[in-house]
Amino acid sequence: MMYLISALWSYIILLICLNSNIIGGLALSLPDSHTCVVGAGYSGLAVSRYLKQFGVNFTVFEASRHVGGTWRFDPHVGLDEDGTPVLTSMYKYLRTNTPRQTMEFGGFPFPDSTPAYPTGTCFYKYLRSFVKHFDLMPNIHIRRLVTSVKWLNHHWELTYTQTDERSNHTVSCDFVIIANGQYVRPTLPMLPGQDIFNGSIIHSHDYKEPEKYKDRRVLLIGAGPSGLDLAGQLHNVTAKLFHSHHLVYNQPKFSEHYFKKTDVEAFTMDGVVFKDGTFEEVDDVIFCTGYEFFHPFLDQSCGLTVSGKFILPLHQNIVNIRHPSMSFIGVVNKVITRVLDAQAEYIASLIAGKFKLPPQEEMLKIWLAHVFKLQHQRKKIVDVNTVGADMDQYFANLTMEAGITRVPPVLSEIRDFNAKNRLEDLLHYRDYDYEVVDSMNYKRWHNGGGSRGEECPVEI
Ligand SMILES: Cc1cc2nc3c(=O)[nH]c(=O)nc-3n(C[C@H](O)[C@H](O)[C@H](O)COP(=O)(O)OP(=O)(O)OC[C@H]3O[C@@H](n4cnc5c(N)ncnc54)[C@H](O)[C@@H]3O)c2cc1C
Ligand SMILES: *[C@@H]1O[C@H](CO)[C@@H](O)[C@H](O)[C@H]1NC(C)=O
Ligand SMILES: *[C@@H]1O[C@H](CO)[C@@H](O)[C@H](O)[C@H]1NC(C)=O
Ligand SMILES: *[C@@H]1O[C@H](CO)[C@@H](O)[C@H](O)[C@H]1NC(C)=O
Ligand SMILES: *[C@@H]1O[C@H](CO)[C@@H](O)[C@H](O)[C@H]1NC(C)=O
Ligand SMILES: *[C@@H]1O[C@H](CO)[C@@H](O)[C@H](O)[C@H]1NC(C)=O
Repeated sequence: MMYLISALWSYIILLICLNSNIIGGLALSLPDSHTCVVGAGYSGLAVSRYLKQFGVNFTVFEASRHVGGTWRFDPHVGLDEDGTPVLTSMYKYLRTNTPRQTMEFGGFPFPDSTPAYPTGTCFYKYLRSFVKHFDLMPNIHIRRLVTSVKWLNHHWELTYTQTDERSNHTVSCDFVIIANGQYVRPTLPMLPGQDIFNGSIIHSHDYKEPEKYKDRRVLLIGAGPSGLDLAGQLHNVTAKLFHSHHLVYNQPKFSEHYFKKTDVEAFTMDGVVFKDGTFEEVDDVIFCTGYEFFHPFLDQSCGLTVSGKFILPLHQNIVNIRHPSMSFIGVVNKVITRVLDAQAEYIASLIAGKFKLPPQEEMLKIWLAHVFKLQHQRKKIVDVNTVGADMDQYFANLTMEAGITRVPPVLSEIRDFNAKNRLEDLLHYRDYDYEVVDSMNYKRWHNGGGSRGEECPVEI
């Protein structure tokens, strides 16, 4: 805690010193400019749609052979058929844990009859239908893994590996948009004895399907969204499912094979000792311990402080204050997916010259005020990109500054209800459909559950 506060202060002092080098006045749009986008997941696709709509010349660089990012299931573990790291964390039978209304692109809803919590496969189909509808494919260059982004002589130099040929290429960009995903690098703790454990250990990033765990003794560690969802997938398949976590929630009646455990004390060769002193024999361990930001390609010349938990200083959690022709989609925590679409519209509007940023000194002042407020609320620097409960205000702020579509408050209402209800009724919260009535109100009704969840009327 002391360390964090002193680190925070050194950033502030550093930035105040840097301030004197910063020049104001920021109309960003340039004639004949070229914009480079890293990643063709939801975020990269969202910004492509707006860039195209606003007549901006742009190219998307996508590492895999596919659009859709994490929503595409890939059976490979580790490396894909091109020897590129598998970046998607999708698994079989996933259904969204948030109503689709909070995930839809602006003005591009799912067909009305789509269940509120579609399958991952259905969401992927929706993303592909979006690409087709807005004819985005010509701008998307696949099998290009971006390895470096540098600021050099007043433009960006972006270097990528063309994965089919293993050749490296550098292109010049006036603007660069980083949309490489929020859930990229698994957080893998190293617990005592882990290296001598004889069973299998994976992170949920590499989990693919429940079938593999049939009749096995499995330990899940963690009860974030992945841990809770995997508990639902595995409790009735495994011989024994141990679930080590300390989340306080209304635990549903899992099968008699499910055992809640305390935190792990240490691994042995054939099992695990827990903090309460109990021991269990275990065959497989799945760490559901979350993800970190991962931007290994950002060169020092970008002028940012980058870590797995935060990036600073960013204006509106989007624009690199040191070099405002660089922006980010998805460096923001505890928000709905629709936020990514709003950030995309904001960035495309900026590049298209639809609004001007404040001068850099002013952006820095606004950012510092935000940091002081965090400190006042006894929050830590790791919370610098967290929007959370302020999400509706965030939407309002983006609209106020950039004139983009106002995302209605009802989506924040749905988010809040769903977050609570999921912890109240984990096994059945998806058996409902939702309808947005107006900008403040929605309806929700039981839909009978069962195979209703698998319906996907999306046409490609
Ligand atoms: C398992 C899982 C389940 C989720 N479920 C939900 C849910 O139910 N509801 C919800 O609202 N949100 C959910 N999310 C959040 C989800 O991340 C967002 O919905 C959305 O997919 C984010 O899109 P993105 O484009 O920012 O990132 P991604 O989908 O990760 O896409 C990033 C793209 O960038 C590419 N890329 C990465 N690095 C490079 C590079 N160096 N060079 C070139 N290309 C690169 C990747 O290949 C990928 O295509 C879930 C996330 C995960 C991991
Ligand atoms: C778009 O930018 C690329 C890369 O700079 C350039 O080669 C191309 O001619 C540009 N296209 C248009 C229509 O301006
Ligand atoms: C291409 O770049 C990568 C990453 O920087 C590097 O490891 C590799 O050696 C380069 N390959 C060639 C052929 O230069
Ligand atoms: C370790 O695992 C192997 C194969 O899974 C098994 O044959 C061996 O008996 C195990 N050793 C111990 C000490 O559990
Ligand atoms: C296990 O439970 C899930 C729902 O929690 C259900 O979809 C699945 O069919 C069940 N599987 C078995 C083998 O009973
Ligand atoms: C919205 O803008 C106000 C005024 O600049 C600021 O105080 C507040 O922190 C912002 N809130 C969010 C969530 O961005």
